[in-house]
Amino acid sequence: MTGTEITRTTLGTGGPEVGVQGLGCMGMSFAYGPTDETEARATLERALELGVTLYDTADMYGFGENEKFIAPFVRAHRDEIVLATKFGIQLDPDDPARRTIRNDRGYLRSCVEGSLRRLGVETIDLYYMHRRDPDVPIEETAGAMAELVTEGKVRRLGLSEVTGDELRAAHAVHPIAAVQSEWSLFSRDVERTAVPAAAGLGVAFVPYSPLGRGFLTGAFTDAIQELSSDDFRRTMPRFSGENAAANAALLEPVRAVAEARGATPGQIALAWVHARAERHGLSVVPIPGTRKRSRVEENTAASRIALTAEELARLDPIADRVAGTRYPSMSFTSAGRE
Ligand SMILES: NC(=O)c1ccc[n+]([C@@H]2O[C@H](COP(=O)([O-])OP(=O)(O)OC[C@H]3O[C@@H](n4cnc5c(N)ncnc54)[C@H](OP(=O)(O)O)[C@@H]3O)[C@@H](O)[C@H]2O)c1
Repeated sequence: MTGTEITRTTLGTGGPEVGVQGLGCMGMSFAYGPTDETEARATLERALELGVTLYDTADMYGFGENEKFIAPFVRAHRDEIVLATKFGIQLDPDDPARRTIRNDRGYLRSCVEGSLRRLGVETIDLYYMHRRDPDVPIEETAGAMAELVTEGKVRRLGLSEVTGDELRAAHAVHPIAAVQSEWSLFSRDVERTAVPAAAGLGVAFVPYSPLGRGFLTGAFTDAIQELSSDDFRRTMPRFSGENAAANAALLEPVRAVAEARGATPGQIALAWVHARAERHGLSVVPIPGTRKRSRVEENTAASRIALTAEELARLDPIADRVAGTRYPSMSFTSAGRE
């Protein structure tokens, strides 16, 4: 231990030990504009030095490019890290904005082979269903995913963007180690059913976009102007026009709490997720995404901030005031079905 390392936690009942914060790798190859690849690779290494052990990708991030990008790091540190990837969203190469959700067994089996090949590993530590296909019963998908565990292709199962009922139904077929869904100061709908269900079942929660896709760091004063032309956030309602201006104004209490603590707004946003999870009594491993060493240092340091009840009372009302939905189309999110 160097004194800067983060503490560890168990990823769900009976799960592996991981650092209390993971690293989202998506932005290194997808969605958030150009990447300095050398710095991104150095960020993967720096994260590990700081005690980050859960690394998150998905087959659809850059049509498999993100899995390929992290593969050398994964192979160099195979026994030190917990590798998570996902299947279930099929992108259209001719129109990347078009996506099909597929949970059927045949698709799942072709996806897992593709991920294993691109990552260059024999086993995926945590394999998520990325989105729910309403045409396939979740019990069927969980059963097909469980076969992968029996075959040694996958160690543990996870689900992304599911409701509490869906989690319970899948967990009855095969233990689910983790639910990964958006959870932040801006996005709290998971607290209605998914979070309580996970807490009751001993399933870990892996909040994605805990920094509100960067917005909660206070980095965007005029969001659209500051994003590159290929940045996916240009299409996201919370980042556009009047919504972005209204949402920027909501950061005032985040800035105030940060200033009083000598912290950054992003650190307060990450500390808030930990505090909420503690309140709900569940194990949590947020996966903020960054491609920069200085930011992974800043973000991991947030895990040492314990917010007080007074601070939480100032921050908790923010989510109800956020302008704009999480996605351009809410049809494939759990919130859209709750
Ligand atoms: N299951 C799902 O459906 C789903 C959906 C979305 C994301 N995810 C996963 O969750 C991970 C995290 O989510 P996310 O990347 O969407 O959002 P996020 O973690 O909320 O925010 C990431 C953004 O914040 C910036 N950032 C990070 N740390 C910062 C800091 N300290 N100061 C200023 N800016 C900072 C990053 O820029 P730089 O990279 O330039 O630092 C990036 O633009 C992804 O990487 C992905 O693995 C899963």
